[in-house]
Amino acid sequence: MPEAYSNKVMEHFKNPRNVGELENPDGTGHVGNPVCGDIMEMYIKVKDNVITDAKFKTFGCGAAIATSSMATELIKGKTIEEALSVTNKAVAEALGGLPPVKMHCSVLAEDALKSAIDDYLKKTTGKGLPGFKPHDHTH
Ligand code: FES
Repeated sequence: MPEAYSNKVMEHFKNPRNVGELENPDGTGHVGNPVCGDIMEMYIKVKDNVITDAKFKTFGCGAAIATSSMATELIKGKTIEEALSVTNKAVAEALGGLPPVKMHCSVLAEDALKSAIDDYLKKTTGKGLPGFKPHDHTH
């Protein structure tokens, strides 16, 4: 194997946290990765501006599953503003790093999170996340 995954990546891949859907989510994100065509959905529950629950469904590679698992773990209990500062790099770092060729997979996790927050803001304020454009949108 030229590029090994960290133990943490393997652990989140084999035992992903927060897989599934939320009933009546306050925000739903749906994004696609233009590099490989993988798809990710993320659901958030928000109360008093704090993300109380998050779940995801990833139709994609192991790194995408591990990063979405870690992303949902990182944002739970955070305010919307705090969650927005969870970048793909922060997710990759929390996983002990990703092989460079797999960094694009972590971008999918960041986009899914931003897409869910964008949806939440649209529903609650009528305006989406300023400047948010997912890298690709597949439906
Ligand atoms: S190869 Fe598609 S997200 Fe990783």
